[in-house]
Amino acid sequence: MNQYINENKDRFINELLDMLRIPSVSADAKFKQDVMRTAEFVKQRLIDAGADNVELVETAGNPVVYGEKIVDPSLPTVIVYGHYDVQPADPYELWTSPPFEPVIKDGKIYARGACDDKGQMYMHVKAFEAMMKTGTLACNVKFMIEGEEEVGSVNLATFVKENKDRLKGDVILISDTGMLGNDTPSITAGLRGLSYVEVEVTGPNRDLHSGLYGGAVANPINILCQMIASLHDENNHITIPGFYDNVQELSQEERAEMARAPFDLDKYKKALDLGDVHGEAGYVTMERNSIRPTLDVNGIWGGYTGEGAKTVIPSKAFAKISMRLVPNQTSEEITEKFKKHFESIAPASVKVEVKPHHGGEPVVTPTDSIAYQAAAKAYEDTFGVKPIPVRSGGSIPIVAMFKSELGLDSVLMGFGLDSDAIHSPNEHFGIFNYMKGIETIPMFYKHFAEMKK
Ligand code: BES
Ligand code: MN
Ligand code: MN
Repeated sequence: MNQYINENKDRFINELLDMLRIPSVSADAKFKQDVMRTAEFVKQRLIDAGADNVELVETAGNPVVYGEKIVDPSLPTVIVYGHYDVQPADPYELWTSPPFEPVIKDGKIYARGACDDKGQMYMHVKAFEAMMKTGTLACNVKFMIEGEEEVGSVNLATFVKENKDRLKGDVILISDTGMLGNDTPSITAGLRGLSYVEVEVTGPNRDLHSGLYGGAVANPINILCQMIASLHDENNHITIPGFYDNVQELSQEERAEMARAPFDLDKYKKALDLGDVHGEAGYVTMERNSIRPTLDVNGIWGGYTGEGAKTVIPSKAFAKISMRLVPNQTSEEITEKFKKHFESIAPASVKVEVKPHHGGEPVVTPTDSIAYQAAAKAYEDTFGVKPIPVRSGGSIPIVAMFKSELGLDSVLMGFGLDSDAIHSPNEHFGIFNYMKGIETIPMFYKHFAEMKK
């Protein structure tokens, strides 16, 4: 196995670079053709690797790439999930090399999607190839690679609901998260959910001269800023009534367990050029970014932002706001609470509209399952140390649905690092990480098959 992987290392890397050259940005319709080309690419590589019944399943949006290898119906079945779409690459000028012209620097592949999730998804295709070519595939496998994760997986949810038979299996295997460090492997044991809203504040019915009207009418940008500022109190608690009602608090033991994971606050601040960290009183950084809910403005705009000065009171102001959710909050509940509260704090001098976007539910995955234990053994095989279970602050909306619709738990075997700059300019993925993923995944199949007996 390792011999096969080593002998084919250069090709494994070059194939990934080929896929990274296709700009499969799902958020922007102008990349539709490229999204389709990427789906075709994944389909072809699955066929090459030896998968059966490979097809692009049409959805109302981008196709799902499906393929399978049923070795023996009596063996356990692993369903591999990943996504071939990527985030937009803007702002392009902050990239040191163009986002869709991958380069290797200091042992890392730089490109949009290098880590999230083309690189990590492709590890599964190559691990599958290696198992097929060496006759060691120990489980049945079904691939489900989607093209809309970065826009909320709305159509995949329909696919899952409509394909329950086809998606019969024992576990969902995903590499779309990270680990603590290259010598500190970890397995993600939870993800936050997401409520995403857009708000529009309207003042006067047209833009006004700020001298003639200034001081006498509401400036929607001023008001929006006040409203946003009021959403946190002096302890950085979120002020929306009932926001924390359903939040599952961790026990002191669980928090103590979390605190054992290595974390260096000074390094953290240095890596981000921060004078200090910021967050909810009573919680440390690792808790603030994983087990606690948050509210953040993702974008805010309105008025004049062109060159020079324009004296204007704008008619409208806008913001995009996301809330990260933890068990047992639901995106529906939180979106509703936000909407009600935000409308209630608007002064009579403006009108407010709250438009909900996609959401996703939080999940905690079991660490006492056979699948988790098999994953832990796999990391131990290839890293030489036991991985630590860690709850992540990110979201993969479909994971909660795998549980609710298919009754299946997911195992989140991530190989990325926080420093890989996913969603940012200069996203990258270590070749070490890519190759470790390809080596570790077959170990999971092996242990899972053995432990399932
Ligand atoms: N792969 C990420 C999520 C992730 C990254 C989880 C690292 C844990 C560690 C995924 O592609 C993503 O970016 N999800 C979005 C949500 C989606 C609805 C746009 C997110 O978390 O913002
Ligand atoms: Mn991802
Ligand atoms: Mn992402």
